[in-house]
Amino acid sequence: MTPRLEGKNISVTFGDILRKVEAVKNVDIALEPGQTIGIVGESGSGKSTLARVLAGIQVPTSGQVFYEGKNIWQGKVAYSGQMRKKVQMVFQDPYESLNPRMRAVHAVTEAVSFHQNVSGEEARNVALNLLERMGITGQDALKLPRALSGGQRQRVSVARALSASPEVLIADEPTSAIDQSAQSQLLRLFNELIADGLSIILVSHDLGVIRYLTERVYVMESGNFVEAGDTTQIFENPQMEYTQKLISSIPGHITKSR
Ligand SMILES: Nc1ncnc2c1ncn2[C@@H]1O[C@H](COP(=O)(O)OP(=O)(O)O)[C@@H](O)[C@H]1O
Ligand SMILES: [Mg+2]
Repeated sequence: MTPRLEGKNISVTFGDILRKVEAVKNVDIALEPGQTIGIVGESGSGKSTLARVLAGIQVPTSGQVFYEGKNIWQGKVAYSGQMRKKVQMVFQDPYESLNPRMRAVHAVTEAVSFHQNVSGEEARNVALNLLERMGITGQDALKLPRALSGGQRQRVSVARALSASPEVLIADEPTSAIDQSAQSQLLRLFNELIADGLSIILVSHDLGVIRYLTERVYVMESGNFVEAGDTTQIFENPQMEYTQKLISSIPGHITKSR
Protein backbone atom coordinates (compact mmCIF):
# COMPACT_ATOMS: atom_id res chain seq x y z
CA MET A 1 0.00 0.00 0.00
CA THR A 2 1.29 3.46 -0.88
CA PRO A 3 1.35 5.64 2.24
CA ARG A 4 -0.87 8.69 2.17
CA LEU A 5 2.03 10.89 3.17
CA GLU A 6 5.65 9.90 3.31
CA GLY A 7 8.91 11.62 4.19
CA LYS A 8 12.05 9.92 2.90
CA ASN A 9 15.50 10.65 4.25
CA ILE A 10 14.50 14.14 5.42
CA SER A 11 17.19 16.48 6.68
CA VAL A 12 16.92 20.15 7.63
CA THR A 13 19.94 22.25 8.47
CA PHE A 14 19.59 25.85 9.60
CA GLY A 15 22.22 28.54 9.70
CA ASP A 16 25.54 28.81 7.90
CA ILE A 17 28.92 27.08 8.08
CA LEU A 18 29.83 28.94 11.26
CA ARG A 19 26.64 28.23 13.18
CA LYS A 20 24.94 25.13 11.91
CA VAL A 21 21.84 23.58 13.47
CA GLU A 22 20.90 20.16 12.19
CA ALA A 23 17.26 20.26 13.20
CA VAL A 24 16.26 17.06 11.36
CA LYS A 25 18.69 14.31 10.39
CA ASN A 26 17.85 11.73 7.73
CA VAL A 27 14.48 10.62 9.04
CA ASP A 28 11.89 8.42 7.35
CA ILE A 29 8.23 8.71 8.27
CA ALA A 30 5.04 7.30 6.77
CA LEU A 31 1.39 7.95 7.40
CA GLU A 32 -1.07 5.33 6.15
CA PRO A 33 -4.63 6.25 5.11
CA GLY A 34 -6.86 6.67 8.16
CA GLN A 35 -3.93 6.38 10.54
CA THR A 36 -3.06 8.71 13.38
CA ILE A 37 0.61 8.97 14.24
CA GLY A 38 2.39 10.93 16.90
CA ILE A 39 5.76 12.66 16.94
CA VAL A 40 7.10 13.18 20.44
CA GLY A 41 10.32 14.47 21.89
CA GLU A 42 11.69 17.16 24.14
CA SER A 43 11.67 20.82 23.14
CA GLY A 44 14.12 21.56 20.33
CA SER A 45 14.27 17.95 19.10
CA GLY A 46 13.05 18.92 15.62
CA LYS A 47 9.35 18.00 15.77
CA SER A 48 7.97 21.29 14.41
CA THR A 49 10.59 21.48 11.68
CA LEU A 50 9.72 17.98 10.48
CA ALA A 51 5.97 18.76 10.65
CA ARG A 52 6.53 21.88 8.55
CA VAL A 53 8.50 19.88 5.99
CA LEU A 54 5.64 17.37 5.69
CA ALA A 55 3.16 20.25 5.33
CA GLY A 56 5.26 21.76 2.54
CA ILE A 57 5.92 24.95 4.52
CA GLN A 58 9.61 24.23 5.10
CA VAL A 59 11.92 23.19 2.27
CA PRO A 60 14.05 20.25 3.41
CA THR A 61 17.81 20.56 2.96
CA SER A 62 17.68 17.05 1.54
CA GLY A 63 15.14 14.28 1.19
CA GLN A 64 11.69 14.05 -0.36
CA VAL A 65 8.06 14.22 0.67
CA PHE A 66 5.47 12.20 -1.21
CA TYR A 67 1.70 12.53 -1.16
CA GLU A 68 0.19 9.24 -2.37
CA GLY A 69 3.48 8.50 -4.07
CA LYS A 70 3.79 11.89 -5.78
CA ASN A 71 6.54 14.35 -4.89
CA ILE A 72 4.80 17.32 -3.20
CA TRP A 73 7.30 19.76 -4.70
CA GLN A 74 6.80 20.80 -8.31
CA GLY A 75 9.59 23.27 -8.81
CA LYS A 76 9.32 25.85 -6.04
CA VAL A 77 5.70 25.13 -5.17
CA ALA A 78 4.55 22.52 -2.67
CA TYR A 79 1.14 20.87 -2.94
CA SER A 80 0.03 22.41 -6.20
CA GLY A 81 -2.97 21.38 -8.34
CA GLN A 82 -4.89 18.33 -7.16
CA MET A 83 -2.82 18.05 -3.98
CA ARG A 84 -3.45 21.62 -2.85
CA LYS A 85 -6.21 20.98 -0.33
CA LYS A 86 -5.20 17.53 0.80
CA VAL A 87 -2.84 18.38 3.62
CA GLN A 88 -3.68 21.09 6.15
CA MET A 89 -1.82 22.21 9.23
CA VAL A 90 -2.88 23.71 12.55
CA PHE A 91 -0.46 25.38 14.92
CA GLN A 92 0.05 25.65 18.65
CA ASP A 93 -1.08 29.24 18.97
CA PRO A 94 -3.94 30.04 16.60
CA TYR A 95 -3.82 33.64 17.85
CA GLU A 96 -0.92 34.11 15.47
CA SER A 97 -2.61 32.51 12.48
CA LEU A 98 -5.99 34.22 12.94
CA ASN A 99 -6.53 37.76 11.72
CA PRO A 100 -7.28 39.80 14.89
CA ARG A 101 -9.82 41.92 13.02
CA MET A 102 -11.78 39.01 11.58
CA ARG A 103 -14.73 37.49 13.39
CA ALA A 104 -14.76 33.70 13.69
CA VAL A 105 -17.45 33.23 11.06
CA HIS A 106 -15.60 35.50 8.62
CA ALA A 107 -12.29 33.76 9.19
CA VAL A 108 -13.89 30.42 8.34
CA THR A 109 -15.98 31.84 5.46
CA GLU A 110 -12.79 33.20 3.93
CA ALA A 111 -11.21 29.75 4.08
CA VAL A 112 -14.35 28.11 2.67
CA SER A 113 -14.45 30.56 -0.27
CA PHE A 114 -10.77 29.91 -0.89
CA HIS A 115 -11.02 26.12 -0.88
CA GLN A 116 -14.51 25.44 -2.16
CA ASN A 117 -16.35 26.59 -5.20
CA VAL A 118 -19.19 28.33 -3.36
CA SER A 119 -20.53 31.87 -3.29
CA GLY A 120 -20.84 34.38 -0.41
CA GLU A 121 -24.04 33.36 1.35
CA GLU A 122 -23.45 29.65 0.78
CA ALA A 123 -19.84 29.93 1.97
CA ARG A 124 -21.09 31.58 5.15
CA ASN A 125 -23.53 28.73 5.76
CA VAL A 126 -20.84 26.12 5.20
CA ALA A 127 -18.64 28.08 7.64
CA LEU A 128 -21.40 28.24 10.27
CA ASN A 129 -21.90 24.47 9.95
CA LEU A 130 -18.19 23.84 10.35
CA LEU A 131 -18.08 26.09 13.40
CA GLU A 132 -21.11 24.37 14.88
CA ARG A 133 -19.36 21.05 14.45
CA MET A 134 -16.43 22.56 16.36
CA GLY A 135 -18.83 23.56 19.15
CA ILE A 136 -18.81 27.27 18.31
CA THR A 137 -22.36 28.48 17.96
CA GLY A 138 -24.55 31.58 18.26
CA GLN A 139 -22.84 34.74 19.46
CA ASP A 140 -19.46 33.03 19.72
CA ALA A 141 -19.31 32.65 15.94
CA LEU A 142 -19.53 36.44 15.67
CA LYS A 143 -16.67 37.15 18.07
CA LEU A 144 -13.21 38.47 17.27
CA PRO A 145 -10.28 36.19 18.20
CA ARG A 146 -9.46 38.21 21.34
CA ALA A 147 -13.01 37.69 22.65
CA LEU A 148 -12.74 33.92 22.27
CA SER A 149 -11.05 31.53 24.69
CA GLY A 150 -7.82 29.79 23.68
CA GLY A 151 -9.69 26.55 23.10
CA GLN A 152 -12.28 28.29 20.93
CA ARG A 153 -9.57 29.97 18.88
CA GLN A 154 -7.92 26.60 18.37
CA ARG A 155 -11.25 25.17 17.17
CA VAL A 156 -11.77 28.09 14.76
CA SER A 157 -8.35 27.24 13.40
CA VAL A 158 -9.32 23.59 12.98
CA ALA A 159 -12.55 24.70 11.23
CA ARG A 160 -10.46 26.72 8.76
CA ALA A 161 -8.25 23.72 8.10
CA LEU A 162 -11.26 21.43 7.63
CA SER A 163 -12.85 23.84 5.15
CA ALA A 164 -10.44 22.38 2.59
CA SER A 165 -11.86 18.88 3.26
CA PRO A 166 -8.29 17.62 3.72
CA GLU A 167 -7.21 13.98 3.80
CA VAL A 168 -4.40 14.75 6.22
CA LEU A 169 -4.29 17.07 9.20
CA ILE A 170 -0.94 17.97 10.71
CA ALA A 171 -1.36 19.43 14.19
CA ASP A 172 1.64 20.96 15.95
CA GLU A 173 1.09 21.09 19.72
CA PRO A 174 -2.63 21.80 19.31
CA THR A 175 -3.40 21.39 23.01
CA SER A 176 -0.35 23.08 24.52
CA ALA A 177 -1.68 26.62 24.82
CA ILE A 178 -5.12 25.76 26.20
CA ASP A 179 -6.51 24.80 29.61
CA GLN A 180 -7.48 21.31 30.73
CA SER A 181 -11.19 21.39 29.87
CA ALA A 182 -10.52 22.97 26.46
CA GLN A 183 -7.98 20.20 25.90
CA SER A 184 -10.51 17.48 26.61
CA GLN A 185 -12.96 19.10 24.23
CA LEU A 186 -10.33 19.32 21.47
CA LEU A 187 -9.29 15.71 22.05
CA ARG A 188 -12.91 14.55 21.69
CA LEU A 189 -13.10 16.52 18.47
CA PHE A 190 -9.92 14.91 17.12
CA ASN A 191 -11.38 11.52 18.02
CA GLU A 192 -14.42 12.28 15.88
CA LEU A 193 -12.20 13.36 12.98
CA ILE A 194 -10.23 10.12 13.32
CA ALA A 195 -13.49 8.13 13.32
CA ASP A 196 -14.46 9.99 10.12
CA GLY A 197 -11.31 8.64 8.46
CA LEU A 198 -9.03 11.68 8.55
CA SER A 199 -5.32 10.80 8.69
CA ILE A 200 -3.56 12.80 11.38
CA ILE A 201 0.01 13.64 12.32
CA LEU A 202 0.01 14.89 15.86
CA VAL A 203 3.08 16.64 17.19
CA SER A 204 3.22 17.01 20.94
CA HIS A 205 5.49 16.99 23.91
CA ASP A 206 2.40 15.95 25.90
CA LEU A 207 2.62 12.17 25.93
CA GLY A 208 -0.79 11.81 27.53
CA VAL A 209 -2.36 13.35 24.43
CA ILE A 210 -0.25 11.17 22.12
CA ARG A 211 -1.16 8.01 23.99
CA TYR A 212 -4.85 8.88 23.88
CA LEU A 213 -5.08 9.63 20.17
CA THR A 214 -2.40 7.86 18.17
CA GLU A 215 -1.75 4.34 16.88
CA ARG A 216 1.91 4.75 16.15
CA VAL A 217 4.60 6.92 17.72
CA TYR A 218 7.90 8.32 16.50
CA VAL A 219 10.23 9.42 19.28
CA MET A 220 12.54 12.26 18.32
CA GLU A 221 15.81 13.32 19.94
CA SER A 222 18.18 15.94 18.49
CA GLY A 223 16.80 15.56 14.98
CA ASN A 224 16.82 11.74 14.95
CA PHE A 225 14.15 9.15 15.51
CA VAL A 226 15.48 7.11 18.40
CA GLU A 227 12.50 4.79 18.48
CA ALA A 228 9.26 4.18 16.57
CA GLY A 229 6.48 1.69 17.07
CA ASP A 230 2.89 0.98 18.03
CA THR A 231 1.70 3.41 20.66
CA THR A 232 0.88 0.64 23.17
CA GLN A 233 4.28 -0.94 22.72
CA ILE A 234 6.14 2.38 23.05
CA PHE A 235 4.28 3.29 26.23
CA GLU A 236 4.30 -0.13 27.86
CA ASN A 237 7.69 -1.33 26.78
CA PRO A 238 9.91 1.56 25.70
CA GLN A 239 13.29 0.31 24.55
CA MET A 240 15.37 3.46 24.74
CA GLU A 241 16.35 5.28 27.89
CA TYR A 242 15.36 8.59 26.29
CA THR A 243 11.81 7.28 25.70
CA GLN A 244 11.64 5.83 29.22
CA LYS A 245 12.55 9.24 30.64
CA LEU A 246 9.96 11.02 28.51
CA ILE A 247 7.28 8.59 29.65
CA SER A 248 8.23 8.72 33.31
CA SER A 249 7.89 12.50 33.18
CA ILE A 250 4.14 12.26 32.42
CA PRO A 251 2.32 13.72 35.44
CA GLY A 252 0.73 10.92 37.44
CA HIS A 253 2.64 8.26 35.58
CA ILE A 254 4.11 5.55 37.72
CA THR A 255 7.30 4.09 36.35
CA LYS A 256 7.70 0.36 36.40
CA SER A 257 10.78 -0.57 38.38
CA ARG A 258 13.09 -2.81 36.44
N1 LIG B 1 14.01 29.01 11.38
C1 LIG B 1 14.99 28.51 12.14
N2 LIG B 1 16.25 29.02 12.08
C2 LIG B 1 17.25 28.51 12.81
N3 LIG B 1 17.11 27.50 13.67
C3 LIG B 1 15.88 26.95 13.80
C4 LIG B 1 14.76 27.43 13.04
N4 LIG B 1 13.67 26.68 13.37
C5 LIG B 1 14.09 25.78 14.27
N5 LIG B 1 15.41 25.94 14.54
C6 LIG B 1 16.21 25.11 15.46
O1 LIG B 1 16.04 23.76 15.08
C7 LIG B 1 15.95 22.92 16.22
C8 LIG B 1 14.63 22.17 16.21
O2 LIG B 1 13.58 23.09 16.41
P1 LIG B 1 12.05 22.68 16.37
O3 LIG B 1 11.80 21.91 15.13
O4 LIG B 1 11.24 23.90 16.59
O5 LIG B 1 11.93 21.68 17.62
P2 LIG B 1 10.67 21.25 18.50
O6 LIG B 1 9.43 21.55 17.72
O7 LIG B 1 10.87 19.79 18.75
O8 LIG B 1 10.75 22.02 19.76
C9 LIG B 1 16.14 23.84 17.42
O9 LIG B 1 17.50 23.82 17.78
C10 LIG B 1 15.74 25.18 16.90
O10 LIG B 1 16.38 26.20 17.60
MG1 LIG C 1 7.72 22.67 18.27
